[in-house]
Amino acid sequence: MGKIKLKIDGREFSAEKDEYVLDIAKREGFEIPTYCHNDQVSREARCRLCVVEARWQEGGHSRIVTSCLYPADEGLMVETNSEQVRLVRRVVLELLLARTPEAKGLAELAAEYGVGKNRFGADTDFGKCILCGLCVRTCREVVGVEALGFRMRGVLKQVGPAFAEPSSVCIGCGACYFVCPTGHIIMTEKGDERKIWGRTFKMEKCSKCGRYFAPKYQLEWINSQTGVAMDRLSLCQDCK
Ligand code: SF4
Ligand code: FES
Repeated sequence: MGKIKLKIDGREFSAEKDEYVLDIAKREGFEIPTYCHNDQVSREARCRLCVVEARWQEGGHSRIVTSCLYPADEGLMVETNSEQVRLVRRVVLELLLARTPEAKGLAELAAEYGVGKNRFGADTDFGKCILCGLCVRTCREVVGVEALGFRMRGVLKQVGPAFAEPSSVCIGCGACYFVCPTGHIIMTEKGDERKIWGRTFKMEKCSKCGRYFAPKYQLEWINSQTGVAMDRLSLCQDCK
């Protein structure tokens, strides 16, 4: 580590060596769109919306890079909104919208970038999933379970439990459902049952207000991982 100087849109800033360009730009007030980035989980640069133009010499060749995973170094020059950057973001937006036209935030962003009629047509054979991986990383890194992953390759790539079978390790917490930006993951609740990824989980009632609030299996799992007694886990968020 150590301090370095870089330029963003012609202005000089200091940052830590290897700090990611996205983080520096956000800290300094630049707007860079992201769709697969979440501060709570690791980065995989899957959506490509956060692209910027990077060059190392004034007037030299530039490269389009994903700012969320591009490390800064001395002398780096970054353009966050050049014509080239906007062109790439427009194509990325078209591709994302082909998969998930109603995903939150995308239509507004598309309008801002002048993306009109989608040239690629609908691409919904595998639902609304844009393969951002947020559900996989949240399950693994935040919940501490590995119920989800990627399977197949290329255009056949999909996300979900292994072999597309109901996962035996899923605890039914719904974290993947809440983090998914496109609404691809379906979770339903009726009475004392929650259904997600092909499994049905029995729900527990809050011992104070009486509403169903969490799968029994999830509470047992937290108990086994943390040692917190089951009776202390029996209150919903509102009654704690
Ligand atoms: S299901 Fe949702 S969160 Fe998971 S990879 Fe697909 S779009 Fe991302
Ligand atoms: S936010 Fe960088 S690639 Fe998605």
